[in-house]
Amino acid sequence: PTEKAWVAHGLHKYHGFWLSTKQMQGVLACQKHFQAVDSDIVLVTTLKSGTTWFQALLFALVKRAHYLDPQRHPLLTENPHVLVPNLEFDVYTDRQVLPDLSSLARPRLISTHLPYVCLPDSVKHSGCKVVYVCRDPKDVFVSLWHFSNKLRPVGSGTMSLDEAFDKFCRGVNTSGPFWDHVLGFWKESLKRPESAFFIKFEEMKQEPALHLRRLAKFLGCPFSPEEETHGVVDGILRLCSFENLSNLDVNKSGILSSGMEKSAFFRKGEVGDWMNYLTTEMVKKLDSITQEKFHGSGLKF
Ligand code: A3P
Repeated sequence: PTEKAWVAHGLHKYHGFWLSTKQMQGVLACQKHFQAVDSDIVLVTTLKSGTTWFQALLFALVKRAHYLDPQRHPLLTENPHVLVPNLEFDVYTDRQVLPDLSSLARPRLISTHLPYVCLPDSVKHSGCKVVYVCRDPKDVFVSLWHFSNKLRPVGSGTMSLDEAFDKFCRGVNTSGPFWDHVLGFWKESLKRPESAFFIKFEEMKQEPALHLRRLAKFLGCPFSPEEETHGVVDGILRLCSFENLSNLDVNKSGILSSGMEKSAFFRKGEVGDWMNYLTTEMVKKLDSITQEKFHGSGLKF
């Protein structure tokens, strides 16, 4: 299909990226109206790179002084997407009625799927902190394929793996091309390491305590010796684990304000599930696109 056909399917090309119609309205509104302040923390991801996990982690990390009783933590009764709303999908949903963000508790935690080039200027130029999470494109693709099929309206059929693969490789998916999205923030994190923290889903899976401590330092809220002694790091990791979050009633059923099913954000939460789905040719193709796109950037998977 031509680019025009994708536009007819609800995607728009904007600054070299494919954004959905719903996202587009929010993008224009937040670019115009969102004013980041120095204390803001903005979580940036492509779809299926670990948004939900990091929303939970950031919330638990940054607000930990307010929620000392683990039995009464907001993550037990509220979905991470509600606690850390998405700028273009949840916050700026209506261009006529602008949200009042001034009353939100500081630091404000916000997430977005916007590519770097589309971020509101104040996010780029204020002293706010950006946390960027990326994930192996092979796992992102498989996760995205499952997610898209799960969210398709009843009766509209499912998209085959081959068709979805072709679209993903061409970059035709919400906030795609994946590689350009990642590179935009990778370069920024190299230029401004004090403002942009870049982390891979796989790294967090492998050494969660190490990276949570790094994240805490970056955000200016390192763990105190007392917290270390009381196992606060492990407590946060347990609270935000796939096993815990995916088994909470609040995440098992119900719909988010964006219209998406809460349960669609929890599937397996593993590294390497692509091995169960991709053919050798598909792996070769994705790996070669990744190598070509990331060539010379210092970024590898
Ligand atoms: P899989 O489909 O591979 O299982 P996003 O939140 O960006 O939409 O990403 C969703 C992916 O993250 C899904 O991957 C989901 O299962 C996984 N995920 C959700 N919560 C997680 C958690 N607490 N820990 C690890 N992975 C998690």
